Amino acid sequence: MFFHSLTTALLGTTVAAAAAITTTTTSTLNPSTLNVTVIAAHNNKSTLECWALEPGFESSNTPGTTGNPVLSLGAPSANISYMAIPPRTDGGLHNAPTIQWVSFVSGKAHVTLPHSDDEAWVTGGEFGTILAIDTEDVSADGHFTEYPSDEVTVALAMPVKEVPGHRVLHAGACTRREQKFL
Ligand SMILES: *[C@@H]1O[C@H](CO)[C@@H](O)[C@H](O)[C@H]1NC(C)=O
Ligand SMILES: *[C@@H]1O[C@H](CO)[C@@H](O)[C@H](O)[C@H]1NC(C)=O
Ligand SMILES: *[C@@H]1O[C@H](CO)[C@@H](O)[C@H](O)[C@H]1NC(C)=O
Repeated sequence: MFFHSLTTALLGTTVAAAAAITTTTTSTLNPSTLNVTVIAAHNNKSTLECWALEPGFESSNTPGTTGNPVLSLGAPSANISYMAIPPRTDGGLHNAPTIQWVSFVSGKAHVTLPHSDDEAWVTGGEFGTILAIDTEDVSADGHFTEYPSDEVTVALAMPVKEVPGHRVLHAGACTRREQKFL
């Protein structure tokens, strides 16, 4: 009797859970590639550029995201770090410590340059991933980063072995329009 009601209860739960996770895909994403803002360097000076990564997206065959766009960010060269930066922090002038992806999850980063008026406003979230490659060996002075928002800026730093394949779209940061999926 006890087992019977337990089984019934479990079955009920399973059916309810199955109903809850039945979702419908209402749209398809079909982007060709990812366009990212890059803190690059030319002639020993840091620059901002918008790059289109090459090769672009493939169709995922990972269970859970099957059929959705996926793109490799490259082979890691060191440990990935999770960083929490307090509101209204001035990070000062610095170089990228290594070639690395920085993915801002929350908050805001304002990147400016000592030898150019170009600037990038990077908001945590969908458009929050940038590439920083202005290491000391290619840029004498580096770049400035400020975190002016009233919330904590959370970022993931992901060092990679080499600069990923790309096509330079233009000088200056990418616009939202160039990065939008939908
Ligand atoms: C990653 O971190 C661990 C623990 O601190 C360390 O032992 C390891 O050497 C690091 N790996 C690399 C590639 O830096
Ligand atoms: C970049 O500038 C620094 C400082 O002026 C200098 O020491 C270095 O040799 C320069 N590097 C290149 C590749 O020109
Ligand atoms: C990236 O830029 C290319 C070239 O301008 C464009 O065709 C593509 O749609 C852009 N990708 C996204 C996700 O906006």
